[in-house]
Amino acid sequence: MKVIGIETSCDDTSVALFDTEQGVIQNLVSSQVELHNNFGGVVPELASRAHLVNLIPLIDELMNRSETSLDDIDGVAVTAGPGLIGALLVGLSTAKAICWARDIPMIGVHHIEGHILANELTEPMQFPAMVLVVSGGHSEVILMPEIGVYERLGGTLDDAAGEAFDKSAKLIGLPYPGGPVIDKLADDGTPGAFKFPRPLQKDPRIVFSFSGLKTAVRVAVDKLERPISDQQKADICYELREAIADSLTQRLFQAAHEHNVKAVYLAGGVSANSKLRSKTAEMAQKYGYHFLPPKMAYCTDNAAMIACAGAARLVAGHTDNLDLDSFARRPISSWK
Ligand SMILES: Nc1ncnc2c1ncn2[C@@H]1O[C@H](COP(=O)(O)OP(=O)(O)OP(=O)(O)O)[C@@H](O)[C@H]1O
Ligand SMILES: [Mg+2]
Repeated sequence: MKVIGIETSCDDTSVALFDTEQGVIQNLVSSQVELHNNFGGVVPELASRAHLVNLIPLIDELMNRSETSLDDIDGVAVTAGPGLIGALLVGLSTAKAICWARDIPMIGVHHIEGHILANELTEPMQFPAMVLVVSGGHSEVILMPEIGVYERLGGTLDDAAGEAFDKSAKLIGLPYPGGPVIDKLADDGTPGAFKFPRPLQKDPRIVFSFSGLKTAVRVAVDKLERPISDQQKADICYELREAIADSLTQRLFQAAHEHNVKAVYLAGGVSANSKLRSKTAEMAQKYGYHFLPPKMAYCTDNAAMIACAGAARLVAGHTDNLDLDSFARRPISSWK
């Protein structure tokens, strides 16, 4: 079965072609980073307009590059939410138009299920699994007994991990998105030069809090003489990356122990973080859980993960009517 994936939930326009036999045939991403960089974050209306301009030409390019015609397509998977409503509507309306014109099924995909199933693009996932979803808008721990079943055990009380990276980057004077820049600079940082908090460590719940970390970065930056040197920036990035990776892995493995799972997984943009990946790998080996990190290309928003999730639903016989609505927020646990 061949499925087109469409992802327009935030600031990346992405389309992909996925085959249930061959895997990902093509995954194209048209980034809007330059467009939003001047504003230090995503401007929703600009994102919608850019999707509108980019999406149809990108689908044409997808068909050309994969030497496939719409006649060969068995379904279109599209992100229905969560995300920016205007941005989502561009993808959803386009998917509806293709499916109506070609009389093929449409599959609405929950963006977070897409991030989680990006792991299926590395190897078949092992269950029961504990998944740490860490992205621009989410930081949660999810128990996954099988594909399609998601139990949210807990998450952040304030900012998401990606948000903590992005907001801290802004305070340090680094460009958006901050996560990849901080990750790179941190490699040159000096251990112990700064000390940031790991909040809620004694709290027995599966909870994170990253707003205090942002404040700690602000206080540290305010104390420094101007201009801040590259070494000082690297030192702050080092400790920030350590603090976030410590908090995230502590809860992932706490949940894994409590639920006696077989495997642990990372999902979402922050799963591209080198420290989070290496620390998770280390702890998984120490405690005897299966772990393979998702491929870098499928960590941040991409349509391959949406096509993969949609294909799984299509194979299981789950399709959606063309009156499907987009949604800004909806927990993954309620996704059926
Ligand atoms: N190497 C990295 N280290 C840390 N953070 C990273 C890295 N690469 C990307 N990120 C972060 O990942 C986030 C983007 O991830 P993603 O595209 O999944 O988020 P989103 O789609 O905006 O949010 P959501 O998936 O919750 O709707 C950004 O906050 C970015 O800074
Ligand atoms: Mg995302």
